[in-house]
Amino acid sequence: MGKTKLKDVLTAEVARIDKAQIAKRHERVIEGFTDEPCPRAVIGGKKYHLFNSNDYLGLRFHEKLREAEEEASRKYGAGPGAVRFISGSMFIHQELEKEIASFHGREDAMVFSSAFAVNMAVIHCMIKGQSKDSLVENSTLVISDQLNHRSIIDGIRVAGLPRENKAIFKHMDLDDLRRVLEENAGKFKRALVISDGIFSMLGEAQDIKKLQEVIDAFDDKYEQGVLSIIDDAHGVGCYGAGGKGCEEMFSGKCDLLIGTMGKAFGADGGYVTGDKEYIEYLRESAATYIYSNPISPGTAGAALAALRVIQSAEGKKLLETLAENVAYFKDEIKKAGFTLAVESDHGIQPILIGDAEKTKALTNALFDASFIVTNINYPVVPKGADEIRVQLSSLHQKEDIDAFIAACKEAWKLIL
Ligand SMILES: Cc1ncc(COP(=O)(O)O)c(C=O)c1O
Repeated sequence: MGKTKLKDVLTAEVARIDKAQIAKRHERVIEGFTDEPCPRAVIGGKKYHLFNSNDYLGLRFHEKLREAEEEASRKYGAGPGAVRFISGSMFIHQELEKEIASFHGREDAMVFSSAFAVNMAVIHCMIKGQSKDSLVENSTLVISDQLNHRSIIDGIRVAGLPRENKAIFKHMDLDDLRRVLEENAGKFKRALVISDGIFSMLGEAQDIKKLQEVIDAFDDKYEQGVLSIIDDAHGVGCYGAGGKGCEEMFSGKCDLLIGTMGKAFGADGGYVTGDKEYIEYLRESAATYIYSNPISPGTAGAALAALRVIQSAEGKKLLETLAENVAYFKDEIKKAGFTLAVESDHGIQPILIGDAEKTKALTNALFDASFIVTNINYPVVPKGADEIRVQLSSLHQKEDIDAFIAACKEAWKLIL
């Protein structure tokens, strides 16, 4: 009987979500992909061009990744069999960690099941940072960019800090960050500054060099320093001339860099990389690393193959093609009369629509014309900033982009 009441409460919550038209559970299920140069997704027997995938280099379809996945799976088994410290640590995991560290010019790296899992553990661990008897939780100040990803917000939430230990700086506003650091200097033993590298809603890039300069200026004003944690999930693999993300783009370096292998790497899983003291400590304390399975050996093999492709001449070409596609798209969509919400040179390009109903109508019309994009509405973006998020890939051909823009123009005529 009690559970009937619970089910009523849960059903009412789902009904509220449906009424607000923010439901996410009606997923479009992909039945397969065509084998064209830019594979199209097959849904309900019809072919669709994806302009909303994080696979910015198209690596998930790369033969080297598929072969490496199969080879690792044959060698080690389909799954890890246990968590890392029991018997789930394979040579392929270690090899991947070493190559991630070297790719980002760091001493060590740790691989997790996802970047979400990295944030959940790393933020919490860097807040406490000592043995149970000498917790310093209340002496850490966490400073987070206003528009950070949900995994960072939840990572801070699970740490359960009192309100006064948490601060937010205005989105990408380094003067505001400086103000927060200044106001709190001497009050806390340690500060953590956490930010996305690329912000996924608009494709904006945090200038890591300038951010780090602000942080460094305050490092000796906190007994244990100011630690920077950058989650560059959308930047690693596809941003910067060598695909090393925002650090490379801005010639900056943070203390702990978090990335995912589930976007530009075309595989799956998350990682954190940094100095060995941080990583050794995290291997001893990060719950989602210690008590949760690592990625499967096959996925580790695919991610390692991706890392090698990205660093090869072929990878350089893929990165150049992505940059060309982004530049081409930006020019052509503006010529077609649309406005971009921000100027970004990342694969994420937001078309500003400014009205929730119109974004939905445009997304639906594009779907009917066989193109899939994502509409982003309030409260994810401010009121009046509703947008269509377009994500470009190295695999998009010029004619795909032309066809997409023509479809946008046609659809817009019907909406106006
Ligand atoms: C900034 C950021 N961090 C973390 C994630 C989650 O990545 P993963 O799918 O590896 O958990 C995302 C994905 O949307 C992201 O944009």
